[in-house]
Amino acid sequence: MVILTDYNHSVFPIIGVSMVIIAIIALVAHFVSKKIKFEVDLGDLWWQIKWDDLVFPERQLGKRSTLSLGISEASFRKSAASVASPISMASTTGTLKNISGVLVAMHKGVRVAVKVVPVKKFSINRALLMELKQMRETLHENLSRFVGLCTEEPNRAIITELCLRGSLRDLLENEAIQLDWVFKYAMITDIAEGMGYLHSSPIQFHGNLNSSNCIINERFTVKITDYGIREFRKQIDRMEDFNPRKFFWKAPEHLRERDPFNTGSQKGDVYSYAIILQEIITRSGPFESMERLGRKRAHMEPDEILDRIRMGMVPPFRPEVSADEAPRELIRLMHAAWHENPDSRPDFATIKPILKRITKGTSSRNLFDNLLSRMEQYTNNLERMVEEKTESLMEEKKKTEELLYQLLPQFVAEELKKGSQVYPEAFDAVTIFFSDIVGFTNISAESTPLQVVDLLNYLYTTFDNVIEKYDCYKVETIGDAYMVASGLPIRNGNDHVREICRMALELRNSMRNAKVPHDPEKTLMVRIGIHSGPCAAGVVGLKMPKYCLFGDTVNTASRMESHGEPLKIHISKATRDIIEQFFRSFIIVPRGEIEIKVSAIQISENFNHNSRLITFSHINTL
Ligand SMILES: *[C@@H]1O[C@H](CO)[C@@H](O)[C@H](O)[C@H]1NC(C)=O
Ligand SMILES: *[C@@H]1O[C@H](CO)[C@@H](O)[C@H](O)[C@H]1NC(C)=O
Ligand SMILES: *[C@@H]1O[C@H](CO)[C@@H](O)[C@H](O)[C@H]1NC(C)=O
Ligand SMILES: *[C@@H]1O[C@H](CO)[C@@H](O)[C@H](O)[C@H]1NC(C)=O
Repeated sequence: MVILTDYNHSVFPIIGVSMVIIAIIALVAHFVSKKIKFEVDLGDLWWQIKWDDLVFPERQLGKRSTLSLGISEASFRKSAASVASPISMASTTGTLKNISGVLVAMHKGVRVAVKVVPVKKFSINRALLMELKQMRETLHENLSRFVGLCTEEPNRAIITELCLRGSLRDLLENEAIQLDWVFKYAMITDIAEGMGYLHSSPIQFHGNLNSSNCIINERFTVKITDYGIREFRKQIDRMEDFNPRKFFWKAPEHLRERDPFNTGSQKGDVYSYAIILQEIITRSGPFESMERLGRKRAHMEPDEILDRIRMGMVPPFRPEVSADEAPRELIRLMHAAWHENPDSRPDFATIKPILKRITKGTSSRNLFDNLLSRMEQYTNNLERMVEEKTESLMEEKKKTEELLYQLLPQFVAEELKKGSQVYPEAFDAVTIFFSDIVGFTNISAESTPLQVVDLLNYLYTTFDNVIEKYDCYKVETIGDAYMVASGLPIRNGNDHVREICRMALELRNSMRNAKVPHDPEKTLMVRIGIHSGPCAAGVVGLKMPKYCLFGDTVNTASRMESHGEPLKIHISKATRDIIEQFFRSFIIVPRGEIEIKVSAIQISENFNHNSRLITFSHINTL
């Protein structure tokens, strides 16, 4: 018993002590292993991206940036198409610029945004490693995902998630996009969500929140970018693209600091948020609102504006938004958020319920569907616009071509369009047709000029409709004279005679009962002459190119017409010979011998003014 008691007395303290020791050792081991894990995590170079791993599409080199992720100055002047069409956004990107270019690249099969930053001397310290670890842990739908850093000389870049629709700034400036309150609320809420999360994360604050740092993805969710890794951002050389406008989003208390670029606070972010609210409400840049409202106020330079903010005037100098531009509560929220005293500004935890109250009625599900359908509609609109433009362009092109084909034979026009020269050509056998109106001089003397135009218009329309059906080419019209040729510029054997004769018959028949439109008492009578023979043709003139025929055949054909009789078709012996040889379906009636007067210009050795002339006045029987 005694021994046992003794034993107990001596053993229990030993067990107690050793248990305490074991517990301490376990605790230490736990912390050490946690610490080791932390250090290993810290040492993990997951964020390091090799420049060579980034695949840049060939075509983006040399093109101007249409993507903006908060840094590009060019983002201030954005074309409508760049934000509007996802295709153009995806395919065009910036030049490889060190200062302010954002490039699109493929990294491990994922498209990323590469923002090249001017960092002279890059150094890694423990603080930066801690920040990088934070970045990895900061994931939110309304924050753009951080992919990594490229730290190789000379290409130092921040690589982030790609958002195809550019920045909020671009969207607001793009007048082609209609923004209603549902859409505006959605953007305002997105930013508040993202900022709220950022403020509750170890990153704590943004510091450089502005409307070009709010980027928009293909589903029109706003994401905040350019946050965190402040140790890295400190190393960026800011002087290279210094612009006072960049400070418009900085809260007054930070503007008064020595290095406003690298300062920030949660309340400072709230101030920046208020400036963004102003941009969304008014769709104008910060502090542009005074001009927009037409206030008589001297134009102020950005530096002057910043001075006034820094001074902390009473009342504080802020952008102007008139009361009717937004719901009262939203304006009140904006005023509270840019309060001169940081402590009076609400934080995002307070802002979110206020927003919920303001946007009450548009449930978020509703809102998103609404948004999506609107955007689809918008995209469709755009597509239709492009289609219409293309269509009207094609139409214009067709019209121009048609006009060209009327001025020139199609074959010649096409040659000219291809840029090849059209040389004058001699044709062995063509048939030429002339027609005019009997007594046209008297008719036109009795009519007003407009009536004459009407008459000719009626006549030519009828003729044009007929000749379209035949292999022939309308050479020209002079007054009431109408000249058509067949067998050129594309030769057609002997068919030219048949084509012209058939056409002449149809024309004559179509004019059989024609009346003068403004004087139905009078009949319109055509006179037609046809001749076949050799001829030269070519394009004359550069400004108004014209396909002209030369040679006696033309003159003789013209004579045939002027010596013809009303409503009859007068053909020459040469034409008749071909008809008799090849096309027996026509009925020809001899007319007898007629003396054809030939004026001095028309004389030539080939011209046989004693040729026997025939008229045929009957319909052919085929
Ligand atoms: C960045 O600038 C350095 C010189 O300052 C130059 O050698 C390098 O090619 C530039 N990088 C890019 C991507 O333009
Ligand atoms: C991002 O913002 C939208 C709109 O405010 C919200 O519906 C969504 O829940 C937010 N994302 C997260 C993860 O909270
Ligand atoms: C917004 O802030 C970024 C820094 O995060 C800056 O590079 C950019 O120029 C700013 N945008 C405007 C429009 O000032
Ligand atoms: C034209 O009118 C004049 C006088 O009015 C007349 O002598 C002449 O015969 C007319 N010509 C024709 C072709 O009708």
